[in-house]
Amino acid sequence: MTAAENTGAVTVIGLGLMGSALARAFLAGGHPTTVWNRTVRKADPLVAEGAVRADSVAEAVAAGGVVVLSLIDYTAVREVLATAGDALRSTTVVNLSSGTVREARELAAWAAERNIRYLDGSVMAVPQTVGGPDAVVVYSGPGELLDEHRPVLGRLAATSLHLGDDPGLALLYENALAGMLWTTLGGFLQALALVGTEKVPAADFLAFAAQWHTTLGALLPVVAEEVDAGRYTTDVSTLDMNKRAIAHLIETSRAQGIGVDALGGMRSLIERRVADGHGSESLSGLIEVIRNPRG
Ligand SMILES: NC(=O)c1ccc[n+]([C@@H]2O[C@H](COP(=O)([O-])OP(=O)(O)OC[C@H]3O[C@@H](n4cnc5c(N)ncnc54)[C@H](OP(=O)(O)O)[C@@H]3O)[C@@H](O)[C@H]2O)c1
Repeated sequence: MTAAENTGAVTVIGLGLMGSALARAFLAGGHPTTVWNRTVRKADPLVAEGAVRADSVAEAVAAGGVVVLSLIDYTAVREVLATAGDALRSTTVVNLSSGTVREARELAAWAAERNIRYLDGSVMAVPQTVGGPDAVVVYSGPGELLDEHRPVLGRLAATSLHLGDDPGLALLYENALAGMLWTTLGGFLQALALVGTEKVPAADFLAFAAQWHTTLGALLPVVAEEVDAGRYTTDVSTLDMNKRAIAHLIETSRAQGIGVDALGGMRSLIERRVADGHGSESLSGLIEVIRNPRG
């Protein structure tokens, strides 16, 4: 362990909305924090709050301590790391940037060839909740790196979880949860657009949506149990019923003059599963159509 690591020093590379929040959480925890960003001025507020600005990636890495990356994607990560050269050797790099599972695995292999200690991770929070009680950060790769740097990394979230040694796992979870974000929000926006055709303000509809969201949340354990068991009997609602219900929604949406793009995927999954002879089963069985896209 270097002297800088001993003091809990940290370098944050990438000061977008998320990277700035990460740097702020480290500063709030009293950690010596060095920052670098491609667009230099984005470091200004953090420098005013006590961070040290590095003029290059190599200088940022050489400041010592764990190096945390928060960049837009793995292409940017590769470009930025390539400029650091030998400065990265023997350092610990914790990459919290989004990407694909394959990219994470390939970058971990790239790092191993260069004697860079590499931990992948994913921030399951928005910038405003980083460092707070609801924030979760998941990590994958060598668990001992998380153990070693937990005093620093633990500043980012109340919960820091190691998912496993495969460096791709953090992004597997992130990709999965991101899908829930878009489909859930897509459904909410569809609903707001639909009630909005009759001049119902979103604020007025919110209470109904929130109550419905709670009801749906309570269904998740039931769905998980059915999926794990591979059994899709139901006393809640059949796919035959849901096929009709989504057709009503699509017909109403079109008649009210709004689009139905947010619904098309679910309609097609339901219709395929019913056509395969599973109309009396539950919605959970749609996972079989998702698992067999050409089935
Ligand atoms: N915001 C969220 O709620 C959230 C939540 C979870 C995870 N994340 C993930 O966190 C990461 C950062 O997100 P963000 O919200 O901070 O995005 P952002 O505000 O758009 O910031 C993107 C960062 O990437 C840098 N960048 C982009 N291309 C680059 C390149 N070729 N070379 C060097 N730097 C480059 C930008 O530098 P410049 O300032 O110079 O453009 C900036 O620092 C993403 O992977 C995102 O998916 C974000």
